[in-house]
Amino acid sequence: MDITDESHRELLNDADSAAQMGTRLTHRLLTFARQSQLEPEVLNVNDHALGAMELLGSTIGETITLSANLAPDLWRIRADSSEIENAVVNLAINARDAMPEGGKIQVDTKNVSFSENDIEDDFGVPPGDYVNLSVSDNGSGMTDDVKSRVFEPFFTTKESGKGTGLGLASIHGFVYQSGGHVRIYSEVGHGTVINLYLPRHLETRTPQETAQPTRIESTNGDARILVVEDNDMVRKVTVKRLRALGFNPEQVSNGTEAVNFLEIDAGIDLILSDIVMGGGLSGYDVARWVQSNLPQCKVLLTSGFSEQMAEDSDVQTAKLKVLPKPYNLVELQQAISSIIENKTADA
Ligand SMILES: Nc1ncnc2c1ncn2[C@@H]1O[C@H](COP(=O)(O)OP(=O)(O)O)[C@@H](O)[C@H]1O
Ligand SMILES: [Mg+2]
Repeated sequence: MDITDESHRELLNDADSAAQMGTRLTHRLLTFARQSQLEPEVLNVNDHALGAMELLGSTIGETITLSANLAPDLWRIRADSSEIENAVVNLAINARDAMPEGGKIQVDTKNVSFSENDIEDDFGVPPGDYVNLSVSDNGSGMTDDVKSRVFEPFFTTKESGKGTGLGLASIHGFVYQSGGHVRIYSEVGHGTVINLYLPRHLETRTPQETAQPTRIESTNGDARILVVEDNDMVRKVTVKRLRALGFNPEQVSNGTEAVNFLEIDAGIDLILSDIVMGGGLSGYDVARWVQSNLPQCKVLLTSGFSEQMAEDSDVQTAKLKVLPKPYNLVELQQAISSIIENKTADA
C-alpha cells in the first residue's frame, strides 16, 4: 500500500479542525484500503506505533498527553504496516473524542502468551503468542450497550459529521484478517483500553528459544482468599482459576460486601480485588480498610488499566500490588505466591 509519511502528513495538514481530522483520515484510509490489498510484511509494531504517534503529535490537542510504554524485546508480527498506523491513529482519535476536557492517552506494546489454561479467561483470547498493542484513555468510558455495538460498521455515538462509525469496524476487520483479536476493557467514567492481540510471527528458532511450558504447582492452597469483583463472569472465572491453583476462595461482588464479610470473618489471608467497582467502595477503599483493620491480611488488586493510567498515586503511596488484566494462570499464581511469601518474610 502506498501511504508514505508525506501523504500522511498531508492528510493531517489538510484537516482544518481536530474534529474533522478523524473523519477525513478515516475516509481517506478506507478509500486506500478498498483500492489495494493488504500487503503483509514481517515487522516490529513498535516502529509503526511510534510512527503513528509522531503523526498525531500536536494535532491531538493541548489538553491531552500522549505517552508510550513500548516493550523493547517485542516479538515480530506479520501485518500491513499502514494498517497498524491507521489503527493507532484511529484509536487515539477515539480516545481524544472521549476526553473533551483533556486527559491521558497511553500506547503500550507487550508480548503476551495465553496457554490452554487460559482459554476461559475473562478476555477469551485463544491460546497462543501475541503482540498486545493497546491504546488507553481516562475518558468517558463506554456503557455495556455501546461496547457491544462498537464493531458494527457505521455505529457511532458522535453527532453527524463528526463520526463515521467505521474506525473500530475497520480495525476489527484488519486484526481478524491478521489472525488476531480485539478486546475492550472499559469503565464508565474512568476510561477505556482497546487491546489488539496480533499473532506472533514465528521465525526459525533454536530449540532453547521455544517457550517452555510452565508447570503450575499448587503449594499455597491453605491460604484463605476472598475474591472481590463486580463483574459476575470475571468473578466466576477468577474463582475457577483459583480453584485450579488449589485454593478454595470466598467471593463477594463489591467493596461494601467485602467489608461486611471481613467484619464477620477476619480469617482471610489474601484479598484479590478489582479496582473499579460499582457499589460505593473501590478496590483502593477496600485495601485501605484492610490496612487499618486487618493489617495481617494482604491485598492484591487487579485492573484492566495499566499502572501508568492509574488516576491517583494510591498504588504508590500504599505500596499496593496491582496485577494487570488480562493475566494468565501462571501470572496469577506468581503474584499470589510473591505476596504470600512476603508475608512470611515480614512476620
Ligand atoms: N476510547 C473510547 N472511549 C469511549 N467510547 C469510545 C471509544 N472508542 C470508541 N468509542 C465508541 O465507539 C463508537 C464507534 O467508534 P468508531 O468505530 O471509531 O467510530 P466513530 O469514532 O466514527 O464514532 C464511538 O462513536 C464511541 O461511542
Ligand atoms: Mg473513531
